[in-house]
Amino acid sequence: MANRNVPMLLPLAVLFLLGSGGVATAANVIDRCWRGQRNWAADRQRLAVCSVGFAGKMRQNRGAGVVAYTVTDPSDDPVRPRPGTLRYGATVLPAKVWITFARDMRIRLAQPLYVKNFTTIDGRGADVHVAGGAGIVLYHARDVIVHGLHVHDCRAQPPGRVVVPGGAVQPSGSGDGDAIRLVASSKVWIDHNTLSRCEDGLLDVTVGSTDVTVSNNWFHDHDKVMLLGHDDGFTTDRRMRVTVAFNRFGPNVNQRMPRIRHGYAHVVNNLYDGWRDYAIGGSMGPSVKSQGNLFAASGGAGDNKKVTRRMPAVARGGGGGGKDQWHLHSVGDAFENGAFFRQVGNRVRPNYNRHQAFSAASAGDVLPAGINMSSFLKFSLSLISIALSSCSRWQQELGPAYLSTKALRGSGRGHIWAFYRGRQRRLGPPPPLPARRRLGPPPPVLVPHTPASAAAASHPRLRCRCEPRGCSSGRIEGAGAASDRRLRCRRLGPPPPLPLRAARLLVTAGMDRSWINSRLFSKPHLDGVNEFMKFVLERFDENAEILCPCRWCLNRIHRQKGHVEDHLYIYGIASTYTRWIYHGEQSDAGINENEDHLDEHTSFSEDVGINEDEEENPPDRIPDMVDELYIAEGQDGGKSMFAAILDEMKQ
Ligand SMILES: *[C@@H]1O[C@H](CO)[C@@H](O)[C@H](O)[C@H]1NC(C)=O
Ligand SMILES: *[C@@H]1O[C@H](CO)[C@@H](O)[C@H](O)[C@H]1NC(C)=O
Repeated sequence: MANRNVPMLLPLAVLFLLGSGGVATAANVIDRCWRGQRNWAADRQRLAVCSVGFAGKMRQNRGAGVVAYTVTDPSDDPVRPRPGTLRYGATVLPAKVWITFARDMRIRLAQPLYVKNFTTIDGRGADVHVAGGAGIVLYHARDVIVHGLHVHDCRAQPPGRVVVPGGAVQPSGSGDGDAIRLVASSKVWIDHNTLSRCEDGLLDVTVGSTDVTVSNNWFHDHDKVMLLGHDDGFTTDRRMRVTVAFNRFGPNVNQRMPRIRHGYAHVVNNLYDGWRDYAIGGSMGPSVKSQGNLFAASGGAGDNKKVTRRMPAVARGGGGGGKDQWHLHSVGDAFENGAFFRQVGNRVRPNYNRHQAFSAASAGDVLPAGINMSSFLKFSLSLISIALSSCSRWQQELGPAYLSTKALRGSGRGHIWAFYRGRQRRLGPPPPLPARRRLGPPPPVLVPHTPASAAAASHPRLRCRCEPRGCSSGRIEGAGAASDRRLRCRRLGPPPPLPLRAARLLVTAGMDRSWINSRLFSKPHLDGVNEFMKFVLERFDENAEILCPCRWCLNRIHRQKGHVEDHLYIYGIASTYTRWIYHGEQSDAGINENEDHLDEHTSFSEDVGINEDEEENPPDRIPDMVDELYIAEGQDGGKSMFAAILDEMKQ
């Protein structure tokens, strides 16, 4: 740390750049992994294997089966989220998903956002603020990445209802105003987010959550920053393991960076830019290895210089808070401005496996406090970038925490500044996803030729013809319709909304098909799919391709029966397809009580009950997923692979 004189170093750095033409960046191990890739936007999923620490590599979040989903709509409906919104992708979409953002946006969550398993929220390339409303909740979730968001000004929301993974709608209780909260979640990577000014905590890892890495985030302007372990009495948290690396804490933070109960935290290469009460503390005998951090105490009157704080246990019968069980160890930390660390217990190793391990930089690699950040920043960002990326000495002075956070902030207009081979490179926004295949109009509906359907066919919104060719499609008197006659009808224009009364009639008149909305792979769902397949087998011959009524195909695509069955297992059946008229079930004549209702029951498309929300822009790749599976397995589409697997499981 011989030279901390910034104004002198800058010109030196520039000179060095001109002379050298490029030195590899000294970004931290995570950023080196993806930021150094010139074309990172074309291979976003690479990020998933850049993680280190207890989260390990996020391999489950990448691969051919992961759906690319783009958020285009900043609005939020907590109960019935629209396709295109963040909530739809993060909570509802029944697939592994990699979520990106089409443009800069500010999202005000009306209720906490419940993130489902195998979800990546990737804010790179856009300036995304989740602000002014509820925060993000990972409840019993695993394999989740949250990257590149600004989460701030979160407020507890009045109780309401909210959709949770699996599609159920639950009372939300009262939101507690955390930015990001993990409850009983594991294998979670929180990276490169900027978190500030929330009502409660910025990041809570609670109730048995473990295997979490919190890296490259900037926490500022907040009282209670990070809580690891919620309750003194919750001893399951003894197995909690969290890595807190390359983050920047401050300015204007008070306490909990982190506050830990019971578990183990590896706190490494973070920049602590002042605190009022304490930086690292806890209760219930936790273990902390503090390594290569820079603790710069703030100079404020009454602010503590002590980094650490041991709190008495408040738990009933927790035990475990005893002096001997505390391990609070500092290895290679640097202290500025009088900061000091009270060690207790032994050195505790993280015992990482090879996917989790990384080598910590020295505290000297973290930004030294000698630099006045705000005046420094007034220097042009690009000049800093050039200096950063070209002069290794300079990089070492600035170090990971600084580089990470600032580079992130440089993404103001939907761009990211990457530091690469000695030159700053302005990365455009990510390339647009391939244009969506527009699905054509829905295929014609085939219904048996009955007096009711013939009457319906005269509806002005329908264009029908009778098959086989030449038969009369007019009104038929009496019940003598030939059983092999069919009406082939097309809907003209969008369907009118289904009047409530008719909708109720349709539901009550039908068989009990409530399984349609049951949880995927629950018993009712499995039995229901069976029932549907039996229904189909009775009506179509062995090799016929049938319309697939799953939530993605929505009766628009013909598939082999096995494929259809698999789609129904994986995606569920379209949520309002209670009358299977695309598959030969009679459109219900029972509601034809009088002519006034003609309008309602004639619109076959209404009967079919395509949910308008689902109908809009189904992501194209989903159905392909299953098809790819078949190719990979060399299977034909006549048999369902899931059915085979389920059968095997029963034995
Ligand atoms: C995640 O998957 C587990 C099973 O592995 C399941 O119990 C849990 O409910 C799922 N959670 C979410 C949020 O999807
Ligand atoms: C840094 O410098 C700016 C003026 O450029 C000043 O307003 C600010 O108070 C300084 N901050 C610290 C922490 O010294």
